[in-house]
Amino acid sequence: MMNGQSIIEVIQARSSCRTYQETPIALPVQQQLIAFMSAHAVGPLGTPARLSLIAATEEDRQALKGLSTYGFIKGATGFILGAVPHGDFNQEDFGYVMEHAVLYATSLGLGTCWLGGTFAKSRFAAKLGLGENEVLPAVIATGYCAAKRRVVESVIRRQAGADQRLPWERLFFDGAFGVPLSREAAGPFATVLDMVRLGPSASNKQPWRIIKDKTSSDGAVWHLFMQRTPGYAKRNEALLGIADMQRIDMGIAMCHFALTAEELGLHGAWTVREPAIEKPDALTAYIATWTRA
Ligand SMILES: Cc1cc2nc3c(=O)[nH]c(=O)nc-3n(C[C@H](O)[C@H](O)[C@H](O)COP(=O)(O)O)c2cc1C
Repeated sequence: MMNGQSIIEVIQARSSCRTYQETPIALPVQQQLIAFMSAHAVGPLGTPARLSLIAATEEDRQALKGLSTYGFIKGATGFILGAVPHGDFNQEDFGYVMEHAVLYATSLGLGTCWLGGTFAKSRFAAKLGLGENEVLPAVIATGYCAAKRRVVESVIRRQAGADQRLPWERLFFDGAFGVPLSREAAGPFATVLDMVRLGPSASNKQPWRIIKDKTSSDGAVWHLFMQRTPGYAKRNEALLGIADMQRIDMGIAMCHFALTAEELGLHGAWTVREPAIEKPDALTAYIATWTRA
C-alpha cells in the first residue's frame, strides 16, 4: 500500500504528463512528498541519494530547453531533483529511489515526467548544490497534470510508442533466454511482472528482461538483465553527454518489482550475484537478482 492506495493501482494510474496546470503544488502535498523522499533515499543496492523538490521558476522551465531532453514539458510547477555519488550501481539505485518518489507523487494526485538530459552544468545542478563526486542523471517534472493532452504531446507519445509495451514473451523467460515464461509458470509473480512492464523507460525502449530461475520451482528467485538498445548509450554519451539512461530504467524495474511483490505478501530483496545463464549477445548485461526471503 502507498498512501492508503494499492501500489498496483498507483502503477496503473501513472503515465508521463507533459502539460501541467498553473496551480502550484499545495503546501501540504509538497511537505508529504519531501518527507517521503527523505525517508526513502537509499537504493536497494546501497547507494545513498539526495532528493529534493523545487518549485519551478520560469527560468527553470526555460532552462529545460537547452538540456537535450526530448518532448516538450509545458508548465511544470515543480521538479524533483536527485543526486547520487559516483560508484557501482549508482544509476540503478538512482532509478529506484526516484521512481519510488514518482509513484508516491502519483498517489498524491500529481503528474510526473522523467527527463534525461545533460544536467551536470545546469541550474538544476546548482540548485541541488551538486558536489564534485556526485551526478544528477535525470530530473522529474511534476505538478497537477492538465486534463487534456495537447496535440503535440499526443504526437510525442505516439513517436515514443508510449502507449505500447513489448509483449510478455519478449520480456520474461523461464530458466533461459529464448524460453518464454507462461503466466501459469509465473504464478503469483505474473502481476509483479505486469507491473514491471508498465514502468516508464527512456524513449520507451523497455530494456528490462527477467528470467525465472529454473532451480526455484516456487518462483523464489528472479534474475534481471538489461537488453541494451544498439547504439543508444553511445549516442547519448557521445552526442549529448547524457547518463546511461538504460541503467536508470533497470532501477525503475527493480522498484516496480519489489513494491508489487511486497504488496502481494512476497517479501524479498535484490542482490548482485550473476547466475550461470547464457546471454544472447554482447548487448545483454546482468543487473541483479531478487530472492524471496
Ligand atoms: C530515464 C528516463 C528518461 C526520460 N527522458 C525523457 C525526456 O527527456 N523527455 C520526455 O518527454 N520523456 C522522457 N521520458 C519518459 C518516457 O518517454 C516514457 O516513460 C515512456 O515513453 C513511456 O510512457 P509512460 O511514462 O507514459 O508510460 C524518460 C523516461 C525515463 C525512464
